[in-house]
Amino acid sequence: LIHPVIMCGGSGTRLWPRSRKSKPKPFLPLVGETTLFEQTLARASDPAQFAPPVVVTGKAHLPHVEAQLSADDAQIIVEPEAKNTAAAIALAALRLPEDAVMLVCPSDHHIADVPAFQAAAQAAAKLARDDHMVAFGITPTHPETGYGYILQGDALEGGFAVRRFVEKPDLERATQFLADGGYSWNGGIFAFRAGAFIAELEAHRPELAAAVRASVYEGKQDGARFHPAADAFAQIQSESVDYAVMEETSRAAMVPVSMGWSDIGSWHSLRDAREADEQGNRVRGKADLVDCSNVLVDSDGPRVSVIGLSDVAIVVDGDDVLVTTMAGAQKVGSLPGAKNQ
Ligand code: GDD
Ligand code: MG
Repeated sequence: LIHPVIMCGGSGTRLWPRSRKSKPKPFLPLVGETTLFEQTLARASDPAQFAPPVVVTGKAHLPHVEAQLSADDAQIIVEPEAKNTAAAIALAALRLPEDAVMLVCPSDHHIADVPAFQAAAQAAAKLARDDHMVAFGITPTHPETGYGYILQGDALEGGFAVRRFVEKPDLERATQFLADGGYSWNGGIFAFRAGAFIAELEAHRPELAAAVRASVYEGKQDGARFHPAADAFAQIQSESVDYAVMEETSRAAMVPVSMGWSDIGSWHSLRDAREADEQGNRVRGKADLVDCSNVLVDSDGPRVSVIGLSDVAIVVDGDDVLVTTMAGAQKVGSLPGAKNQ
């Protein structure tokens, strides 16, 4: 069986005002009726394929996690502070048997085609059993600088070796990668054998690995929750798995997958993940749209009336109203409202 490891850490300021510190994006029903976190759990809940999940999260997110977690056999690892994904994944790896194959899943993505996701998970698990560090490769559509880029190498069973992994290149390099061809986006979903992941982390980031190990060694179990020791945890360097392991390892592999993936990073990508009417408009809540196209309206109360606009998002949440072009959606996180929520 594959062990799902669900990472819940980020805050998603670019989806303000709907996503807030008090209710961050994994815990909101942004696409469909259930939340992104619930959908992440559901995708990896078939007992014929998956073991009970391990959720790695921070104290602030814990109440949301516990409210939305339906599996009563889930393990929850509660980080004393956020130290990024290399540490979060290492915690789970150290709490699982060495030979467990982990499927590391971000809790804030949308995946339209669940059978395609599960087929890719099986292919990735196979490669992970041979001690490959396996990423999910997504066909890139534009030179996004917020993603990792994977250059595919020789064919392996069910995937490819990785010739090169580049985390968050600048726009010039990302544009070059797309022109060169042979690159995929890193989907942020990984498969590792637990023992192999720890061995790679020890090889490339020995101090980080040792600090996580100490925090686990001195940690405490409390029902379904495991609390790593805070003092040891504070010593951990904050680094993402992409830099700490994927850029460094010579054992990287990639499974290409087409599954309607979106990381729901902004109102722009959220619009595209939602169901459209004939004009390309997406409306949630009360709204009247006249001569509009590709407009997203999401109101939790007030009626929104719009005439003659296209490619804008209008979001109402309590006392906050956001109006932005799709092109401007990337900048939402820098608004005073989003920063001082
Ligand atoms: N538990 C825990 N603790 N989870 C964390 C932490 C942490 O300290 N930091 C981040 N996470 C969770 C986030 O909630 C998210 O679900 C996932 O780990 C990935 O973190 P992000 O911060 O969203 O990473 P990113 O989007 O910048 O980049 C990653 O994802 C891209 C695809 O969406 C990288 O893997 C890129 O290479 C990739 O392209
Ligand atoms: Mg992300």
